Amino acid sequence: MKGKFIVLEGSDGSGKSTLALKIKDYFIKKGYEVEITREPGGTDISEKIRELLLDINNKEMDYKTEALLYAAARAQLVSQKIIPWIKEGKIVISERYVYSSLVYQGFGRNLGINEVKKINDFATSGIKPDLVILLDVDPEKGLKRKLSINGGDRLENEDITFHKSVYEGYKKLKSLFPEIVTVNAEGTIEEVFEDIKILLRRLP
Ligand code: TYD
Repeated sequence: MKGKFIVLEGSDGSGKSTLALKIKDYFIKKGYEVEITREPGGTDISEKIRELLLDINNKEMDYKTEALLYAAARAQLVSQKIIPWIKEGKIVISERYVYSSLVYQGFGRNLGINEVKKINDFATSGIKPDLVILLDVDPEKGLKRKLSINGGDRLENEDITFHKSVYEGYKKLKSLFPEIVTVNAEGTIEEVFEDIKILLRRLP
Protein backbone atom coordinates (compact mmCIF):
# COMPACT_ATOMS: atom_id res chain seq x y z
CA MET A 1 0.00 0.00 0.00
CA LYS A 2 1.01 3.59 -0.63
CA GLY A 3 2.07 5.59 2.44
CA LYS A 4 -0.58 7.70 4.11
CA PHE A 5 -0.33 10.91 6.05
CA ILE A 6 -2.98 11.57 8.71
CA VAL A 7 -3.05 14.70 10.86
CA LEU A 8 -4.87 15.32 14.13
CA GLU A 9 -5.73 18.94 14.85
CA GLY A 10 -7.68 20.71 17.56
CA SER A 11 -7.52 23.03 20.53
CA ASP A 12 -5.34 22.25 23.52
CA GLY A 13 -6.79 19.36 25.51
CA SER A 14 -8.87 17.90 22.69
CA GLY A 15 -7.43 14.39 23.10
CA LYS A 16 -5.02 14.28 20.15
CA SER A 17 -2.33 12.13 21.80
CA THR A 18 -4.71 9.45 23.08
CA LEU A 19 -6.49 9.24 19.74
CA ALA A 20 -3.21 9.10 17.80
CA LEU A 21 -2.34 5.94 19.76
CA LYS A 22 -5.73 4.41 19.02
CA ILE A 23 -5.36 5.14 15.30
CA LYS A 24 -1.91 3.57 15.42
CA ASP A 25 -3.31 0.37 17.00
CA TYR A 26 -6.08 0.27 14.41
CA PHE A 27 -3.61 0.23 11.52
CA ILE A 28 -1.10 -2.07 13.21
CA LYS A 29 -3.86 -4.66 13.68
CA LYS A 30 -4.46 -4.41 9.95
CA GLY A 31 -0.80 -5.21 9.32
CA TYR A 32 0.54 -1.76 8.45
CA GLU A 33 3.70 -0.10 9.65
CA VAL A 34 2.80 3.05 11.55
CA GLU A 35 4.73 6.07 12.82
CA ILE A 36 3.40 8.73 15.19
CA THR A 37 4.92 12.14 15.50
CA ARG A 38 4.06 15.42 17.16
CA GLU A 39 4.52 19.08 16.43
CA PRO A 40 6.44 21.04 17.35
CA GLY A 41 8.99 18.24 17.72
CA GLY A 42 9.56 14.77 16.35
CA THR A 43 13.29 15.12 15.54
CA ASP A 44 16.20 16.09 17.82
CA ILE A 45 16.45 19.52 16.24
CA SER A 46 12.69 20.08 16.26
CA GLU A 47 12.47 19.06 19.93
CA LYS A 48 15.10 21.70 20.76
CA ILE A 49 13.03 24.29 18.90
CA ARG A 50 9.98 23.05 20.85
CA GLU A 51 11.74 23.83 24.13
CA LEU A 52 12.33 27.42 22.99
CA LEU A 53 8.73 27.79 21.85
CA LEU A 54 7.04 26.41 24.94
CA ASP A 55 9.38 27.82 27.59
CA ILE A 56 7.17 29.89 29.84
CA ASN A 57 10.11 32.30 30.44
CA ASN A 58 10.30 33.36 26.78
CA LYS A 59 7.70 36.04 27.27
CA GLU A 60 9.43 38.53 24.93
CA MET A 61 9.22 36.25 21.88
CA ASP A 62 8.04 38.20 18.83
CA TYR A 63 5.06 36.63 17.07
CA LYS A 64 6.97 36.44 13.79
CA THR A 65 9.82 34.65 15.54
CA GLU A 66 7.25 32.27 16.98
CA ALA A 67 5.72 31.56 13.55
CA LEU A 68 9.14 31.03 11.96
CA LEU A 69 10.28 28.69 14.73
CA TYR A 70 7.17 26.53 14.33
CA ALA A 71 7.82 26.45 10.59
CA ALA A 72 11.51 25.62 11.14
CA ALA A 73 10.68 22.72 13.45
CA ARG A 74 8.21 21.50 10.83
CA ALA A 75 10.69 21.78 7.94
CA GLN A 76 13.10 19.51 9.78
CA LEU A 77 10.39 16.99 10.66
CA VAL A 78 9.01 16.86 7.13
CA SER A 79 12.37 16.37 5.43
CA GLN A 80 13.97 14.09 8.01
CA LYS A 81 10.99 11.90 8.90
CA ILE A 82 7.65 12.44 7.20
CA ILE A 83 8.75 12.30 3.56
CA PRO A 84 10.98 9.22 4.05
CA TRP A 85 8.25 7.41 6.02
CA ILE A 86 5.61 8.06 3.36
CA LYS A 87 8.05 6.87 0.69
CA GLU A 88 8.56 3.65 2.69
CA GLY A 89 4.80 3.07 2.49
CA LYS A 90 4.11 3.72 6.18
CA ILE A 91 1.04 5.24 7.81
CA VAL A 92 2.21 8.51 9.35
CA ILE A 93 0.11 10.09 12.10
CA SER A 94 1.05 13.60 13.16
CA GLU A 95 -0.36 15.44 16.14
CA ARG A 96 -0.70 18.90 14.56
CA TYR A 97 0.69 20.23 11.26
CA VAL A 98 0.56 23.44 9.21
CA TYR A 99 -3.08 24.01 10.20
CA SER A 100 -2.00 24.70 13.80
CA SER A 101 0.26 27.50 12.61
CA LEU A 102 -2.50 28.94 10.44
CA VAL A 103 -4.87 29.15 13.39
CA TYR A 104 -2.55 29.87 16.35
CA GLN A 105 -0.19 32.26 14.58
CA GLY A 106 -2.37 33.35 11.63
CA PHE A 107 -5.59 33.96 13.56
CA GLY A 108 -4.61 33.81 17.25
CA ARG A 109 -1.58 36.08 16.86
CA ASN A 110 -3.14 38.02 14.01
CA LEU A 111 -0.22 37.50 11.61
CA GLY A 112 -2.63 36.65 8.80
CA ILE A 113 -3.37 33.26 7.36
CA ASN A 114 -1.79 34.04 3.97
CA GLU A 115 1.49 35.20 5.47
CA VAL A 116 1.74 32.15 7.69
CA LYS A 117 0.75 29.85 4.83
CA LYS A 118 3.59 31.26 2.70
CA ILE A 119 6.34 30.40 5.16
CA ASN A 120 4.80 26.99 5.70
CA ASP A 121 4.53 26.18 2.01
CA PHE A 122 8.26 26.88 1.91
CA ALA A 123 8.91 24.80 5.06
CA THR A 124 6.95 21.74 3.94
CA SER A 125 7.59 21.85 0.18
CA GLY A 126 3.79 21.76 0.00
CA ILE A 127 3.44 18.19 1.36
CA LYS A 128 -0.27 17.73 2.13
CA PRO A 129 -1.96 15.15 4.36
CA ASP A 130 -4.48 12.60 3.03
CA LEU A 131 -6.77 13.31 5.97
CA VAL A 132 -6.95 16.01 8.63
CA ILE A 133 -9.13 15.18 11.63
CA LEU A 134 -10.21 18.28 13.51
CA LEU A 135 -11.21 17.40 17.07
CA ASP A 136 -13.92 19.79 18.06
CA VAL A 137 -14.08 20.55 21.77
CA ASP A 138 -15.19 23.68 23.56
CA PRO A 139 -11.94 25.65 24.15
CA GLU A 140 -12.71 26.33 27.80
CA LYS A 141 -13.31 22.66 28.53
CA GLY A 142 -10.17 21.58 26.69
CA LEU A 143 -8.00 24.12 28.42
CA LYS A 144 -9.32 23.17 31.84
CA ARG A 145 -8.36 19.56 31.09
CA LYS A 146 -4.81 20.61 30.15
CA LEU A 147 -4.11 23.10 32.91
CA SER A 148 -5.33 20.65 35.54
CA ILE A 149 -2.79 18.06 34.30
CA ASN A 150 0.47 20.04 34.08
CA GLY A 151 -0.03 23.74 34.82
CA GLY A 152 0.26 24.52 31.10
CA ASP A 153 3.01 25.64 28.71
CA ARG A 154 3.63 29.15 27.28
CA LEU A 155 0.82 28.90 24.72
CA GLU A 156 -1.64 27.21 27.06
CA ASN A 157 -1.14 30.04 29.53
CA GLU A 158 -2.44 32.62 27.06
CA ASP A 159 -5.80 34.01 28.15
CA ILE A 160 -9.10 32.48 27.13
CA THR A 161 -9.70 35.13 24.42
CA PHE A 162 -6.65 33.78 22.58
CA HIS A 163 -7.93 30.21 22.82
CA LYS A 164 -11.38 31.24 21.67
CA SER A 165 -9.90 32.95 18.61
CA VAL A 166 -7.91 29.76 17.90
CA TYR A 167 -11.17 27.81 18.08
CA GLU A 168 -12.89 30.23 15.69
CA GLY A 169 -9.82 30.04 13.45
CA TYR A 170 -10.19 26.28 13.13
CA LYS A 171 -13.80 26.72 12.07
CA LYS A 172 -12.84 29.23 9.38
CA LEU A 173 -10.03 27.02 8.15
CA LYS A 174 -12.49 24.26 7.38
CA SER A 175 -13.99 26.23 4.53
CA LEU A 176 -10.55 26.83 3.00
CA PHE A 177 -9.11 23.32 3.24
CA PRO A 178 -11.38 20.49 2.06
CA GLU A 179 -9.07 17.82 3.52
CA ILE A 180 -10.22 18.86 7.02
CA VAL A 181 -13.00 16.75 8.58
CA THR A 182 -14.49 17.74 11.92
CA VAL A 183 -15.22 15.17 14.63
CA ASN A 184 -17.11 16.03 17.81
CA ALA A 185 -14.58 15.37 20.56
CA GLU A 186 -16.69 16.05 23.65
CA GLY A 187 -17.73 12.44 24.14
CA THR A 188 -15.65 9.64 25.65
CA ILE A 189 -12.49 8.56 23.83
CA GLU A 190 -14.30 5.41 22.67
CA GLU A 191 -17.18 7.42 21.22
CA VAL A 192 -14.85 9.81 19.44
CA PHE A 193 -12.80 6.93 18.07
CA GLU A 194 -15.90 5.25 16.63
CA ASP A 195 -16.43 8.38 14.49
CA ILE A 196 -12.77 8.45 13.50
CA LYS A 197 -12.89 4.82 12.36
CA ILE A 198 -15.55 5.74 9.81
CA LEU A 199 -13.10 8.25 8.31
CA LEU A 200 -10.20 5.79 8.36
CA ARG A 201 -12.24 3.17 6.51
CA ARG A 202 -12.96 5.71 3.80
CA LEU A 203 -9.27 6.38 3.08
CA PRO A 204 -8.40 5.27 -0.44
P1 TYD B 1 1.13 20.48 21.63
O1 TYD B 1 2.35 19.78 22.05
O2 TYD B 1 0.27 19.84 20.62
O3 TYD B 1 0.29 20.78 22.91
P2 TYD B 1 -1.04 20.06 23.35
O4 TYD B 1 -0.67 18.64 23.60
O5 TYD B 1 -1.33 20.85 24.56
O6 TYD B 1 -2.04 20.24 22.26
O7 TYD B 1 1.47 21.93 21.10
C1 TYD B 1 2.09 22.85 21.91
C2 TYD B 1 1.52 24.22 21.73
O8 TYD B 1 2.00 24.80 20.52
C3 TYD B 1 0.00 24.24 21.66
O9 TYD B 1 -0.47 25.21 22.58
C4 TYD B 1 -0.29 24.69 20.26
C5 TYD B 1 0.93 25.43 19.84
N1 TYD B 1 1.23 25.41 18.39
C6 TYD B 1 1.21 26.60 17.67
O10 TYD B 1 0.92 27.67 18.22
N2 TYD B 1 1.55 26.59 16.34
C7 TYD B 1 1.92 25.45 15.69
O11 TYD B 1 2.22 25.47 14.48
C8 TYD B 1 1.93 24.22 16.45
C9 TYD B 1 2.34 22.93 15.78
C10 TYD B 1 1.58 24.25 17.79
